[in-house]
Amino acid sequence: MAVILSKKSPSAAEKDLNSIRKGRDLSFFDLVSIDQVTPEDLGLLYDVARRFREYKTYKFSFNKGSSQVNAFFEPSTRTSSSFDLAAKQLSMDTAGVSSNSSVEKGESYLDTVQTIDSYNVKTIVIRSKESGVPAVAARYTQASIINAGDGWHEHPTQALLDGLTMLDHCKSKDMKGRVVVIVGDIMHSRVFGSLVRLLKTLKAEVRISAPLTLIPEDVEKFGVKWYGKVEEALTGADVVYALRVQSERGANGFIPTLREYSKMFGISRKRLDLAKKDAILMHPGPVIRDIDVHSALAAVDEQSYILRQVENGMAVRKALLWLIVDRIDGKKKTFTRK
Ligand code: NCD
Repeated sequence: MAVILSKKSPSAAEKDLNSIRKGRDLSFFDLVSIDQVTPEDLGLLYDVARRFREYKTYKFSFNKGSSQVNAFFEPSTRTSSSFDLAAKQLSMDTAGVSSNSSVEKGESYLDTVQTIDSYNVKTIVIRSKESGVPAVAARYTQASIINAGDGWHEHPTQALLDGLTMLDHCKSKDMKGRVVVIVGDIMHSRVFGSLVRLLKTLKAEVRISAPLTLIPEDVEKFGVKWYGKVEEALTGADVVYALRVQSERGANGFIPTLREYSKMFGISRKRLDLAKKDAILMHPGPVIRDIDVHSALAAVDEQSYILRQVENGMAVRKALLWLIVDRIDGKKKTFTRK
């Protein structure tokens, strides 16, 4: 579905966005888990994100006077650049803190985050190697904390952009009757952690496929079905969602070799053809070509929606930042740290 770019004047675009919003508000101050996002929040975020997508060349004044710190304590390309650009396109000032910060010298995450919070920033976007850092930070900051991926746990804005990509492809309000197959390193994936929860809300049938060693024991609590043979999982799928083998989290120790993994589970042309004719291929990136997805499919194939996900990432994050900054003004309550 091609996006038609708007030719409206910037002030008419702002008016339009305000009317789409129609006095609606998000229900949360911090976004730590996708579980916080109610169906009403989702509707609001997607209505606004779709409009931001049409206005993707515009700079808005919505968040002028507010600042954001992007605290990425782990490598990132898409998530960090889109959060930064999204904030700037809403006229926010931004600063970055990286793994090259005082955390490396032994400062705790909490002291680092509270240091940033004393600048009176409105949003702190956190990416951490460890699970739970954004959740703890949110208890002690005035700023809104947005989880940009924590350890093996969750990556809520990735799920939001993936949900938008799937719903637009299916031209539907939910994923009822649709089959989403998630293939890859489920065990170490925070992307899976958020996506599976959102897909449950969206009523999708979720199949997972990977070596059993890369499947968490309690995964069935999400109502998903495991397939040891990827071909069986892919048959009749609407969405094929590939995940990277997370080598930095020790995943290589759970498979014989990457080559073996690719042979058994890598998404090739032949395997993708088992899915529905109009099925789409998704991946959160970074794609490890010829391991999780065959090179020929990765970016250029018309079934590959990987770059569309990236585009939707900008739109969703812009929607989130506009709505959350507006929502939190002076309202957040924090605990006092002892
Ligand atoms: C993912 C991440 O970093 O959690 N990518 C992303 O944010 N777009 C997935 C990954 O690293 O494999």
